[in-house]
Amino acid sequence: MPETLVLMEGIEKSFPGVHALSQCRFDLRPGEVHALVGENGAGKSTLMKVLTGIYPKDAGRIFYKGTEVEVPNPRAALNLGISMIHQELNLMPHLTVAQNIFIGREPRKGNFLLDEKAINEKTQQLLNMMHLKLDPRSKVANLTVAMQQMVEIAKALSLNAEVLIMDEPTAALTDTEIEELFRIIRQLRDRGAGIIHISHRLEELKQISDRITVMRDGRYIDTVPTQEVTIDRIISMMVGRTIYESAPEVPENPSQEAVLEVKNLNRGNAIKNVSFNLKKGEILGFSGLVGAGRTEVARAIFGADSADSGEIYIEGQKVRIKSPTDAVKYGIGYLSEDRKRYGLALGLDVETNIVLATLKKFLGFLGWVNQGGTRTTAEHFVSALAIKTPGLQQRVKNLSGGNQQKVVIGKWLTRDCNILIFDEPTRGIDVGAKSEIYRLLNDLAQQGKSIIMISSELPEILRMSHRIIVMCEGRITGELSSAEATQEKIMTYATQRGEATLITASGSA
Ligand SMILES: Nc1ncnc2c1ncn2[C@@H]1O[C@H](COP(=O)(O)OP(=O)(O)OP(=O)(O)O)[C@@H](O)[C@H]1O
Ligand SMILES: [Mg+2]
Repeated sequence: MPETLVLMEGIEKSFPGVHALSQCRFDLRPGEVHALVGENGAGKSTLMKVLTGIYPKDAGRIFYKGTEVEVPNPRAALNLGISMIHQELNLMPHLTVAQNIFIGREPRKGNFLLDEKAINEKTQQLLNMMHLKLDPRSKVANLTVAMQQMVEIAKALSLNAEVLIMDEPTAALTDTEIEELFRIIRQLRDRGAGIIHISHRLEELKQISDRITVMRDGRYIDTVPTQEVTIDRIISMMVGRTIYESAPEVPENPSQEAVLEVKNLNRGNAIKNVSFNLKKGEILGFSGLVGAGRTEVARAIFGADSADSGEIYIEGQKVRIKSPTDAVKYGIGYLSEDRKRYGLALGLDVETNIVLATLKKFLGFLGWVNQGGTRTTAEHFVSALAIKTPGLQQRVKNLSGGNQQKVVIGKWLTRDCNILIFDEPTRGIDVGAKSEIYRLLNDLAQQGKSIIMISSELPEILRMSHRIIVMCEGRITGELSSAEATQEKIMTYATQRGEATLITASGSA
């Protein structure tokens, strides 16, 4: 076995206005999980995109198993045995799981006919190996983000990659699913593959990684064996300063006035008789496993999906919300979990994205856009959320994943909604920015806005919520006040019906 699989040295990469990588290095050994960490915009994804031939490097050298190589395009990387699962998933929503896995290299019958049976069978084998209960013939569009992630992993496995790069694979997964993913990662590692694991969930590094490389502001900081460092040390290397995670005070006794009441909401198998209310100034946490129905409830309230039955009251008035436009009219905002699909106009710039939703507010006499107004608003949110961008005119698709995320948050904040639904608001957000977002949510609640926060991270739910609703298999299985809530109680409710509904990890139940 070679001593190193990958060695990158002196890597330089600039984009217009951004020196994204400067003198970066990285090395990967066979049979190790090597974590790559750093704040949003530190250059982690860019470095890996250089390795996989997505971006050409400006300078530097790449060695693969001791031989210097050029990686001019992604195909070249695949041929070497390097596979990358991207932060923004790259699946074709209208194709099936199997078609996505074998896209571009489908076995064919004769010369043209796609051999559906063969790819379904091969996919089934992969899914069995991963212990995933998922039909190879399901359309990817109908899968949750977590399941799409699993499909990406299956795809990389099918390519027999020796180097597997995972850019925030766990961001969208719940604890059980992460366990399952780690089992698969360890299996690959034990077979001698090298795995590069990018994550903002620092606690998990201890569990899964052998070494950790830290980047900051496009620079290489250090590589350390995981056993020899503390998480606090990693954090200070990442941010270059010490941050104090002061737990924001959950203000006592939010008003008893219900701004939103949901009664007996039903939708197919996804939502079963859901009733709850949301009080003025309250942060109501929604916890549960992925697939528990939390996003479905949010979408039904927002009018993105229509409910089969049920009633919604806003400030005591019964309302009919048939579309997101209706919802916005009633002062409801929804930050969806799948931002690429619903949240952003990736081709447009930061300013336009932040103010897009509110453009009307800036329409002055005869519809002239009041440019000064949009600029001030956008500037305000870029600085309030610490969005890392060379300017307001930067296209959102050029921002790092975490910074794109902050743009979506900014976009909804400009709308002045009374009821805000945040679906996984801190997914993919670094430690420092997370506390900023927590502070922001607290401020909003204190201003009298009411917030539903869906989150798969238990510490976040416990820390932020006045009250917690737990769902399992489409039903509300429990409600806890902030005083009585513990991780154990939440998990008990979250698994009330046995196992997770959609992705069942048969090995881990
Ligand atoms: N195609 C591009 N065009 C212009 N700038 C880019 C492009 N891709 C990345 N950048 C910039 O390079 C820097 C590093 O971005 P990168 O995506 O590598 O960060 P990251 O460490 O992966 O962050 P995150 O944790 O938020 O995903 C950022 O300032 C980003 O805006
Ligand atoms: Mg990234």
